Amino acid sequence: MTQDELKAQVGQAALEYVVPGEIVGVGTGSTVNKFIEALAALKGRIPGAVSSSEASTARLQALGIRVFDANEVGELSVYIDGADEIDGRGYMIKGGGAALTREKIVAAQSRRFVCIADESKRVQVLGKFPLPVEVIPMAAARITRQFEALGGTARVRVKDGVPVVTDNGQHILDVTGLSLQDPLAFESTVNQWPGVVTVGVFAHQKAAVCLLGTSEGVRTLTY
Ligand code: 5RP
Repeated sequence: MTQDELKAQVGQAALEYVVPGEIVGVGTGSTVNKFIEALAALKGRIPGAVSSSEASTARLQALGIRVFDANEVGELSVYIDGADEIDGRGYMIKGGGAALTREKIVAAQSRRFVCIADESKRVQVLGKFPLPVEVIPMAAARITRQFEALGGTARVRVKDGVPVVTDNGQHILDVTGLSLQDPLAFESTVNQWPGVVTVGVFAHQKAAVCLLGTSEGVRTLTY
């Protein structure tokens, strides 16, 4: 099976976690795009979605799925999103698509995080994937030095020669060289640094379930 087929498989499987009659939280990325395509089949049975990015909003609306502002609605029963890495405890690295801040907001607003990922995302220890951190641009150099003190190397994410600007108007640092043995403590620490908007470690907002796409079918992991 190709990686694309594995993503489609878990995108389809995630429909089982959508609660009829309730608004669903929707993440961002190529795996979530498969979920959004599958969700179109349920659109008459849910009021709509809260979206974690402009990109997902556009896809949802193109399929006729209503998108609610997060402030208009209360707690969501489920949030469905991908990951760049997920460990054996359901802790994740996210933000490869630069949507980590809104992803964490919608995850925090949801009772259950269902992660959809192909098996390449499963790791023993988080940190091989460059850790995305959304930052206020004027703090980027100082935050870079703070990561250096932890043994990491941070680079401003660039596209077409200019820094990537997030949906929130900020920049992304991608940090390599870290091995996150204690993701909860790491997330709490980096969250305290002035100028950090969001660190792409999702330990406080970890997955409750992971639907892992494998060539033998979808494996359901619970944490
Ligand atoms: C976007 C994310 C995505 O969930 C993550 O990058 C995985 O994306 P994909 O499904 O394309 O592999 O965190 O900010």
